[in-house]
Amino acid sequence: MRTIIIAIDGPAGSGKSTTARLVAARLGYTYIDTGAMYRAITLAMLEHGAPISGDMLAEFVAGLNVELRYAESGQRTYLNGRDVSERIRHADVTSDVSRVSAIPVVRTAMVALQQQLARQGGVVMDGRDIGTVVFPDAELKIFMTASIEARAQRRMAELGSEQNSFSVEDIAMQLALRDEMDSSRDTSPLTKADDAIVIDTSGVTIEEQVERITALARERIAIPA
Ligand code: C5P
Repeated sequence: MRTIIIAIDGPAGSGKSTTARLVAARLGYTYIDTGAMYRAITLAMLEHGAPISGDMLAEFVAGLNVELRYAESGQRTYLNGRDVSERIRHADVTSDVSRVSAIPVVRTAMVALQQQLARQGGVVMDGRDIGTVVFPDAELKIFMTASIEARAQRRMAELGSEQNSFSVEDIAMQLALRDEMDSSRDTSPLTKADDAIVIDTSGVTIEEQVERITALARERIAIPA
């Protein structure tokens, strides 16, 4: 049976990662969370402290080793051999990641890594530019959206104790700001690929989303290459 690439793009909190993980599990595919990669680079920059630019920045990024490893508990993210899976979800990384991911040398390095990880096919990859830039020929492209209220409520429910001081309104504002930065950057902004199927997840359960995308994937898998 042929193996395909499933690209899932959309704004923050639209339910991409949970859906992508479950679709991958159903199909026996590998789930690749590209947001985690940009978060790892952001953490490296925050830990470096001093601002870096120009050639130094290219050298700095080239010297970083971002890896996704798979454990029983799911995908783990490593930065230079250190497990940073929880650390990259903290508020300092979240508030800086859109700035860092807009830097062209960062994108070039991460896109190359993502293309290499999926070279055998059989992956579900979620992000912002997967169907447009990373895999413009992906066999199945999904663009997930949801109202800002639904996304903020979901993010609120997901957040750990570190961020419990935020209100739903604060979270909605942070999401809107991140969407605006991700959508307006010059290099590979968040945008729907022309051939992507739009799924609005506002009033839909995770189970229904997973069912629908898995069914679409099975149709594509059945088409001879
Ligand atoms: O998916 P997640 O919310 O973890 O992504 C964090 C950030 O990484 C996004 O807000 C965006 O700035 C960046 N990102 C990106 N391209 C991707 C995936 C994530 O620019 N393919």
